[in-house]
Amino acid sequence: MLSGSADAGAPPASHRHPRVTSFRTRRTTLSGAQQATWERLWPELGMHARDGDGPAPLLDTDSWFGRSAPIVLEIGCGAGTSTLAMAQAEPDIDVVAVEVYRRGLAQLLSGIDREHVTNIRLIRGDGVDVLEHMFASDSLTGVRVFFPDPWPKARHHKRRLLQPATVALIADRLRPGGVLHAATDHAGYAEHIAAVGDAESRLRRVSIGDELPISTDRPTTKYERKALAGPDVTELLWEKAP
Ligand SMILES: C[S@@+](CC[C@H](N)C(=O)[O-])C[C@H]1O[C@@H](n2cnc3c(N)ncnc32)[C@H](O)[C@@H]1O
Repeated sequence: MLSGSADAGAPPASHRHPRVTSFRTRRTTLSGAQQATWERLWPELGMHARDGDGPAPLLDTDSWFGRSAPIVLEIGCGAGTSTLAMAQAEPDIDVVAVEVYRRGLAQLLSGIDREHVTNIRLIRGDGVDVLEHMFASDSLTGVRVFFPDPWPKARHHKRRLLQPATVALIADRLRPGGVLHAATDHAGYAEHIAAVGDAESRLRRVSIGDELPISTDRPTTKYERKALAGPDVTELLWEKAP
């Protein structure tokens, strides 16, 4: 379990400063149908990134998916529009979708149920926890971050998900040749992500259309539909150097 060594000697969780997070906490309620689907499917398809005892241990994806396949981690999947479509388009790849927002995960679970999709699993919690504790070095074929919250005000920039430390963690967890794919409609955040990704020595920039181990073909999500009426969407891709 990765968390064992990382936490050795650290003070108890209750004594530590809370980490600056890239998400807001929102209270959500599920519809009756969503709640019923959640209760039926979550025990098999979902898990939490942490509980009262701390972060979840290293994930055994072979046993969770019931097969051995390349793994893509999507952080901040929202309602899972891209997750569902991309997993259906790539049935030989297993997708782990992380989101803090329960209603988003419930919408994705309903889609999985409706479309009989078998290659998606869900984690509720902070994607940074998931990267830190649940995946080993060189284990991921792809990491997707689509329309991360831009935190546009300068005093909030520290809350942006794609910071040097998170990108370094992603670079470590990607296997050689694995791909980080980010998309944003916020010009300032696009510049920031580009600079942070280019500064990470284990990553080298690639483009849509290059031969890559995962598809870069995203469907249009509701965030992108709003963006299309306004600023351009920037796609940013890197592969981990062999
Ligand atoms: C602007 S939405 C985009 C959702 C989706 N990717 C799409 O394109 O429709 C950003 C999402 O990321 C989630 N999020 C932000 N930080 C996160 C984190 N550290 N771990 C997991 N989810 C996170 C938020 O809850 C929110 O639902």
